[in-house]
Amino acid sequence: MPRILDIAQVGVGVSDRAGWEQYCQEVLGFPAFRAADGAVTYVRWDAYHHRLALRDAADAQLHYVAFDVGSAEAMEEWSAHLASKQLAVRLVDTSRCRDRMIAGAIEFQDPDGHPLALGYGFEVAQEPVPYTRPLSVLRTGHVLLTAQDTKRSHDFYTELLGFRLSDWIHRTDDMRLCFLRVNSRHHTLALAPCRPGSKPRLQHIMVEVESLDDVMRSYHHAKRLKAPIGRGPGKHPNCQTIHLYLQTPGGFAIEFGYGHRRLDDAIHQPVIYPPGTPGDVWGGQVQSAEFVLG
Ligand SMILES: [Fe+2]
Repeated sequence: MPRILDIAQVGVGVSDRAGWEQYCQEVLGFPAFRAADGAVTYVRWDAYHHRLALRDAADAQLHYVAFDVGSAEAMEEWSAHLASKQLAVRLVDTSRCRDRMIAGAIEFQDPDGHPLALGYGFEVAQEPVPYTRPLSVLRTGHVLLTAQDTKRSHDFYTELLGFRLSDWIHRTDDMRLCFLRVNSRHHTLALAPCRPGSKPRLQHIMVEVESLDDVMRSYHHAKRLKAPIGRGPGKHPNCQTIHLYLQTPGGFAIEFGYGHRRLDDAIHQPVIYPPGTPGDVWGGQVQSAEFVLG
């Protein structure tokens, strides 16, 4: 099976793009800029041209999570591999590739209908990131997607896409979170069950920051502006990430994370954390009503 190298881009739809841009620049600290035709807002936080793209939509929605497979040849291999598994795969057309600042990609859906892309040639920026406050982001770390059945999703991502299981956290017997990786980072994809009555969605995007200072500066900055804090500062039990979640007006959160654990495929054995395992080993609680896991 070919390999996925890393997570590369996330595309979302939001109902108030101008409001999101303002929140992004004032609270998150990331530059946001529109394409020449105004149809897309790009958000930059590391060496790449952008990591997040927002388009207008009636409600919050996930448009794609794109993973980097490294080359046109690898994308062709993926296309053949997924077709052999009877998955409906289509090529992203040239104009949409241009919008996304990529050389090429294929698209398909996971069992919950989350749109995924495997692509290559993600455009890198030439200039340093013009953060709007003191901040240094290294990369996109992961996304958390909610799923109707996390075991079904686990099987899809591990068997068809080559993700490796890092661990499960069984919050309760019904609340089983799954953590999957494609490289040495503890997870590139986290899966949590949907709350009863809710649809599968993007719950958060994690950005890996350079230092603990970036987490704590972000916390105090958000507090000063009275921006909703989802949870944190805290530390996760499995990946050991020191985290701060800020709930954005787009229906998903941004996690600022530092100290995310690396795993060695040669020695790591998947772990099941039992019911009662806290989300934060320091004992912190969810702080804003809008921040829900499922
Ligand atoms: Fe996370």
